[in-house]
Amino acid sequence: MENRATSARVDRSRHLHALLVELQGWDSRGGPRFRLLARAIARTVERGWFDPGARLPSERSLAAALHLSRGTAVAAYDLLVADGLLERRPGSGTFVVAPGVLALPTGREGSALVHRLVESSAGATAPQPTPDLIDLSISVLADAGPMPAFRLSSADLADVAAGTGYSPWGLPLLREQLAAQLTTWGVPTGSGQVVVTTGAQQAISLAAACWLRPGDTVVVEDPTYPGAIATFRQAGAQLVGVPVDHHGVQTGPLAEALAGRPALVYLQSTLHSPTGAVLSEHRRQQVAELVLQHRTPLVEDLALAGLAWGSTPAPIAARCGDEPVAVVGSLSKRFWGGLRVGWARAPETLALRLARVKATHDLGSSAVSQVVAQQLLARADAQQHHTQRAELRGRYDTLAAALRRHLPDWRWTEPEGGLSVWVQLPQPVAAQLAVAGLRHGVAVATAEELSPADAAHPDRIRLSFAPPPATLEEGVQRLAGAWEEIGPRSAG
Ligand SMILES: Cc1ncc(COP(=O)(O)O)c(C=O)c1O
Repeated sequence: MENRATSARVDRSRHLHALLVELQGWDSRGGPRFRLLARAIARTVERGWFDPGARLPSERSLAAALHLSRGTAVAAYDLLVADGLLERRPGSGTFVVAPGVLALPTGREGSALVHRLVESSAGATAPQPTPDLIDLSISVLADAGPMPAFRLSSADLADVAAGTGYSPWGLPLLREQLAAQLTTWGVPTGSGQVVVTTGAQQAISLAAACWLRPGDTVVVEDPTYPGAIATFRQAGAQLVGVPVDHHGVQTGPLAEALAGRPALVYLQSTLHSPTGAVLSEHRRQQVAELVLQHRTPLVEDLALAGLAWGSTPAPIAARCGDEPVAVVGSLSKRFWGGLRVGWARAPETLALRLARVKATHDLGSSAVSQVVAQQLLARADAQQHHTQRAELRGRYDTLAAALRRHLPDWRWTEPEGGLSVWVQLPQPVAAQLAVAGLRHGVAVATAEELSPADAAHPDRIRLSFAPPPATLEEGVQRLAGAWEEIGPRSAG
């Protein structure tokens, strides 16, 4: 049985890992290293990463994790103590005195994945995280290159998006195109049921804003998409996780969770990230029956549905009639994340609520992006879609072959599409591997970001196969280096 001391050690190691991800790139500028480290720690405090009174890792463990002399870590803490940001309590450690002027309530700013995205888009004004980092932690298309060609002029805008261009519902033609797509997927949809959103991420936020009050319970798959976890936590919800296997969410545990009368259930039926599973027909029927029986609002995320290697099964929503189901999706995976075009599909009365809430968020998505999206949907034919999926499947094969070659003990279930694999390590050392990976120039995602539970899946990492083949090869070699570094310890 695991004793308290062991679990406290595991907690500390996960906490230290999360802090190290925050501190990434701390030494990418010139100057004395203790000052750079102090500045980086101060930034994490100012961002509210630590609660006031929180204890920092000891100088010894921070120094070991960052491969520094202990003196450098001590000098960095000394500086922050002198600045009044930290205090030392003899015999107990070093603690945060004040959260700083920029501090926000904790838990509002997403996981390390979100922070890495924010840092990497900060441009030349901010210290960049490791410049040649191979990021296998974020499952998004690598670039806009393979998108079909489009052409845009101000005249096109005047033709298509007449008037002010503010449109909380979205442009009519795009809504029709999206409704047609949903209809071919097996859920008959009129354009009056579609709200165009700024990515599927916003569609999830709108559903949360419509349905959730602080303290409500939301049921999610465990593991799941980290952006959904962050959104529901921001809304003040408590999360309950339900396990997933290679047929999708397990319906026995789901039934138990729904019997607790949660305010919302969020599921990825086609395709599940990070496992790449597609919910079986039998389970789709069971989930629909459970949702109808308990009358639990469902958010069904189809953001990855266009990347299924096989056919796309009808969404759960198709079996739920007029029950409150919001199906959300995106053009980010079919075309490019930078478009920031997604959608929500719901019964008309709910769609109206979503459009109203959206208006309070941003008054409407960019008409320019929507016009581009219209053209892309009109031009992308079955051949383009087939080519895209074949390319991504080839990248999966490259990643899988490189893993088998360099890390033959690692295991995973082959995905049915999508952009990532959920890899099982032979030892529960995912957090240590993630930290060592950063030192070797490769980032991976762990359950720290992907699970609603604390200390879950300590033997799992998510690897994206979206980058080009050469990057995947190099990324796996770096991971093998990181594994070798921690391997003997983990095996012992
Ligand atoms: C399952 C899932 N849902 C939603 C999103 C958000 O997508 P978007 O770029 O459309 O906001 C993502 C993006 O990675 C995703 O993987």
